[in-house]
Amino acid sequence: MKLTKDELKQFDEQGYLFFPGKFTSEEAALLKQASEEIFAMDRKEVWREKSGAARTAFAAHQYNEPFRRLGSHPRLIDPVEQILDGKLYMHQYKVNAKAAFDGEVWQWHQDYGTWARDDGMPEPRAMNIAVFLDDVTAANGPLLFIPGSHKVGVVEAGHDLETTSYPLWTLDRETVSKLAEQGGCVAPTGPAGSVLLFSSLLVHASPPNISPFGRTIVYLSLCQVDNHITQFKREEWIAHRDFTPINALADDCLQELTKTQGIAAE
Ligand code: SIN
Ligand code: MN
Repeated sequence: MKLTKDELKQFDEQGYLFFPGKFTSEEAALLKQASEEIFAMDRKEVWREKSGAARTAFAAHQYNEPFRRLGSHPRLIDPVEQILDGKLYMHQYKVNAKAAFDGEVWQWHQDYGTWARDDGMPEPRAMNIAVFLDDVTAANGPLLFIPGSHKVGVVEAGHDLETTSYPLWTLDRETVSKLAEQGGCVAPTGPAGSVLLFSSLLVHASPPNISPFGRTIVYLSLCQVDNHITQFKREEWIAHRDFTPINALADDCLQELTKTQGIAAE
């Protein structure tokens, strides 16, 4: 799938693109089931909220077959290769749960802010591409974006080690308010299987999930191979050190598994 000229223009202006229903409900159900198996594991890569509910599973592509395949899926790799204009490696891979009732906030931040400061990534030639494994609605803690905020470069940030279980370089309220005066604030919502691609400089956050509906999203953070990280402070399963270029698999790589595992759409 090639991004059109209009999509590339929209990405340049807004900093993100949204593709509702890019994966089928069978493919999303396969991955959702895999996420539940992972969240039930007692592993160092699975981080929890204070309540004990799962928050994030890192590096799931290294220990789960459906997530391994998703990490090389052409519907995710091809558009990012096109935008970044080169081969990619996996800088980070996370499955974020945002559990019903218990899912906590992700404070306002830019991903590249953390990748530059903590991992020594030379340039923002990296980005996220995310797949919804649940329906994401206004109620269950959707991602919030400030459109156009990727145009301002790296914004000053403070290292937040307290408000959540995950250390993050976060923006202050005044900065976020100023950026939102220009760009507004949006929450892309859609069915399980939708794909959201966004610039590593886009300012984003997500609110707590007090609803009775879970909101699992999987994020591939892909970096151009020439732009690999230069600093190795974080665990290798948080900021990967294998810079091997990803070769995309066949488009039906997940479908094959839905057949063998007898997954049916909800
Ligand atoms: C992130 O910004 O990296 C995660 C936010 C979320 O999953 O809500
Ligand atoms: Mn982020």
